[in-house]
Amino acid sequence: MSNNTQNKHEAVEKHVGWFFIFTILAISIGGLVEITPLFFQKETTTPVTNLRPYTALEMEGRDIYIREGCNTCHSQMIRPFRAETERYGHYSVAGEHVWEHPFLWGSKRTGPDLARVGGRYSDDWHRAHLIDPRSVVPESNMPSFKWLEENKLDGKLTAKKLETFNLLTRNRGHKDASGNPIPLYSAEDIANARSDVEGKTEMEAIIAYLQSLGHALK
Ligand code: HEC
Repeated sequence: MSNNTQNKHEAVEKHVGWFFIFTILAISIGGLVEITPLFFQKETTTPVTNLRPYTALEMEGRDIYIREGCNTCHSQMIRPFRAETERYGHYSVAGEHVWEHPFLWGSKRTGPDLARVGGRYSDDWHRAHLIDPRSVVPESNMPSFKWLEENKLDGKLTAKKLETFNLLTRNRGHKDASGNPIPLYSAEDIANARSDVEGKTEMEAIIAYLQSLGHALK
């Protein structure tokens, strides 16, 4: 390094103000370069072919999943590594998640990844497992969630949840022949939302949700 460059470098490192400004600049450019293309890549904004919206019951199940903090022990993101794809199936792709709000990818795996758990076990297995994990997996350290069997859904907010998802996914769904966005949920879906879930148990809802995971790409 010539003396001149060294001096300039020192000048930046020794002045907190400049150092701060250049650091912010470097991070901003790096961030923009990484993030901006994702908004325009079709792959990340278009739903995969078989993707369908959650049913009203699955939507309630998803909220219970969040409430109980299942995502603090379970990820929903299969990375493209052989060890993962052999265990869990096809790696996760962006097009499976375009309608998710918020994402439940997770960053910690105390338990296995659940991105493709749908269809892997029967509803009865899930019920037994959630009430008493050790009844089906003796070495399990997953907590019991037995209250899910007792709590009933009133469905008061279900229609609102579907409407909110319509809003959040505007322009990310399918289009009709003239290019207008088709909302995820029709007026009929929204009208029926409450009666679809009212009186069902939280257990039924969370199992419906678990069974839906990974449906679009097996
Ligand atoms: C404290 C961490 C923890 C929490 C919280 C937790 N789990 Fe688990 N889960 C585990 C562990 C560990 C296993 C592996 C042992 C077993 O199968 O019970 C597991 C296994 C599972 C499996 C079986 C997956 C497979 O492929 O075999 C399912 C399904 C599951 N959990 C669902 C849930 C749901 C739904 C919730 C929230 C209601 C939840 N878990 C909360 C730790 C947790």
